Amino acid sequence: MDRKAPIGVFDSGVGGLTVAREIMRQIPNEKIIYFGDTARVPYGSKSKETVTRFSKQIVRFLQTFDVKTIVVACNTASAYALDELEKEIDIPIIGVVKPGAKVAAKTTQNGRIGVIATEATIGSQIYSKYIKELNKDVTIYGKPCPLFVPLVEEGLWQDPVTDEIAKRYLTELVDIDIDTLILGCTHYPLIRSTLGKIMGDGVTLVNPAYETARELKELLIEKELLNEEAPKLGENQYQFFVSDGAEKFKRFANSIIKYGILSAKTINIEQY
Ligand code: DGL
Repeated sequence: MDRKAPIGVFDSGVGGLTVAREIMRQIPNEKIIYFGDTARVPYGSKSKETVTRFSKQIVRFLQTFDVKTIVVACNTASAYALDELEKEIDIPIIGVVKPGAKVAAKTTQNGRIGVIATEATIGSQIYSKYIKELNKDVTIYGKPCPLFVPLVEEGLWQDPVTDEIAKRYLTELVDIDIDTLILGCTHYPLIRSTLGKIMGDGVTLVNPAYETARELKELLIEKELLNEEAPKLGENQYQFFVSDGAEKFKRFANSIIKYGILSAKTINIEQY
């Protein structure tokens, strides 16, 4: 496998850009092929079968670029489809759930961890499963926060409406005295300051995007796949593909990634 091959990153839409952004920061020599399934978002309210079928199509699409590894930059797809995807391909593939769970298990002092995520991720109990494997003495409190995704996508990152919804969702977690909160959905790091204000200084917010990029780097080093050469001038280092609404995606992406996204291309994912 070629060290210079790109990394495939996918999400149900724009949320995975928070993961792509961390990969760009932490391993800046790497090339990325990003796919956002903007035609079929959200995944968080869909069934395991559907999310798995979609994820398999995306992996097939990413493999047409001879990617050296794949990052499932979506909590819901990591929760529902990662096991199945691992069986289908022979390149390394990592999700965002395990890295986030690992840090949370290490971080908590009082053994009380909160997880906020989509309904699917909370329902799958995947964070609890991984955290308990590492530390069986912790208690995990899951809280689905489905309204955060549309609020973030509407750009209401700092807005009284988001403050109000966040208060409603998070008050019960404040009341049960958790000391660690996993932001278990790709969109949530974008409203981190709102969430932090409500939870207070005593609660550590865990961003799985950051931890995933760190684990990805370790994995690439271990497999001798880390790209040690900086990209050449004019090389198309980051390529973005979506299943619908390329212009809207591009605007959103440019607002959170400061590495110059030139374009996003629409493809027909159903053909894969
Ligand atoms: N990317 C999804 C996740 O991290 C959130 C958006 C969706 O529901 O598709 O779970």
